[in-house]
Amino acid sequence: MDEHLWTEIDGWLDQSLGLADPALDLALAASEAAGLQPINVAANQGKMLNLLARSAGARRILEIGTLGGYSTIWLARALPEDGGLITLEADPVAARVAQSNLEQAGLGGKVQVRLGPALDTLPHLVDERAFDFVFIDADKPNYPAYLDWAVKLTRLGGLIVADNVVRGGAVIRTDADERAQGTRRFLEQAAADPRLDVTALQTVGAKGHDGFALALKTAD
Ligand code: SAH
Ligand code: DHB
Ligand code: MG
Repeated sequence: MDEHLWTEIDGWLDQSLGLADPALDLALAASEAAGLQPINVAANQGKMLNLLARSAGARRILEIGTLGGYSTIWLARALPEDGGLITLEADPVAARVAQSNLEQAGLGGKVQVRLGPALDTLPHLVDERAFDFVFIDADKPNYPAYLDWAVKLTRLGGLIVADNVVRGGAVIRTDADERAQGTRRFLEQAAADPRLDVTALQTVGAKGHDGFALALKTAD
């Protein structure tokens, strides 16, 4: 199995399952035109996030790492009419593109894009109602700190999902760069936290070999 085949299969799955639509395609095109890196989740991964959020009955969603708002669109579409999503982004260009993409997708009223390093904006969320679902997908060295915040801000029974926890296998290499070390420490910390019940899965596809972690908050 090589990356070419994984990508071909992702394309076939997207087609066969009817995953793409004009608002999502436009969001990716606008992100590319603005020079954002193509590091958004794949369509089948976005749909997985959407289904997980709906299974969790999520009414309030937090996302850390917006980029052009592609995963944000998938997640915000999981919300009921009166639901809301807050997404945190440090890059002003990305935040502007995301805002425009979300409006174009008809989700401007449900989503707040908050600009700034997430470690600066997260403390402001303690005064808000707890979140039902948190998606962690920003800078990898800060994943352990993001997990602390996510657990604090998630309601009992809520779900925390993190992207990029395998990084082509770098997660198990002792000489890994600080990004892979960040996700490794994230997994160790999640496993050691008595408030969480955790798993992680490897994925292959158009985005290479990587993985997602899922953590259910089972105690306060
Ligand atoms: N969730 C997006 C992809 C996010 S890529 C999707 O799947 O569509 C990671 C994003 O995190 C980038 O846009 C990057 O600018 C942002 N980021 C990096 N460091 C950050 C920080 N300290 N605080 C907030 N966002 C950050
Ligand atoms: C990177 C970040 C991501 O969120 C991702 O899905 C892939 C790559 C990165 O920072 O390189
Ligand atoms: Mg990611």
